Amino acid sequence: MTQQQTAEKVNHPFFARIYIRMTSTRRSHGEDEYRKRLLAGLSGDVIEVGAGNGLNFSLYPPEVDAVLAVEPEPLLREAALREAENAPVEIEVVAGVAAALPAADASQDAAIASLVLCSVSDPEQALAELRRVLKPCGELRFYEHVVSNKRFAARLQRLADATFWPRVAGGCHLARDTGAAIEAAGFSVERIERFPFSPGAIVPSVPHILGIARRN
Ligand SMILES: C[S@@+](CC[C@H](N)C(=O)[O-])C[C@H]1O[C@@H](n2cnc3c(N)ncnc32)[C@H](O)[C@@H]1O
Repeated sequence: MTQQQTAEKVNHPFFARIYIRMTSTRRSHGEDEYRKRLLAGLSGDVIEVGAGNGLNFSLYPPEVDAVLAVEPEPLLREAALREAENAPVEIEVVAGVAAALPAADASQDAAIASLVLCSVSDPEQALAELRRVLKPCGELRFYEHVVSNKRFAARLQRLADATFWPRVAGGCHLARDTGAAIEAAGFSVERIERFPFSPGAIVPSVPHILGIARRN
């Protein structure tokens, strides 16, 4: 582990409270349908990075043996621990960061990145770690918001990233090209869909990607 990785702290209590409060709004806007698609067909050992307050937990299919849910933010981790108690599969919630996942090389059948590669400080390192812990044919399942392919909207996203957005949204960035980053990190994208989604009436809709990539 490098010094930078040991020093990484994720502590966003303001954002965490808002995110937890938005749970039912996200659900009433239909987000669970995307999350179900994200997790459908999974089995074996799964690692979920930046699990938040555990919005995916109730949706894991019963064929999953165990989920290792890594969450660095203390308030979100507490909420995830509560959510894990009622999950249909065994879920262990642990502290940790994407840049240094607490799992052995090639130990996981699948890895879940849901709305997290926008927030990690170093997406390349996070993807390298996800690749490291996956078995040779393991799947990366992703559900992420990404940069717009419309020039003006992308410019607004970059402007927000350079000014206020990461500070109010727990380190989130709106203008990341996460699909390209996944491929650049040594994954083959097997399936990808792209769609606009807004998790709440006052939040503008942004492009999302949902899909499966395999370690190659
Ligand atoms: C928008 S929330 C998404 C939470 C959850 N994955 C979901 O789908 O609802 C972003 C999450 O990324 C986590 N996060 C931020 N930086 C991280 C890092 N360096 N390593 C792991 N998780 C991180 C945050 O604590 C938060 O839980």
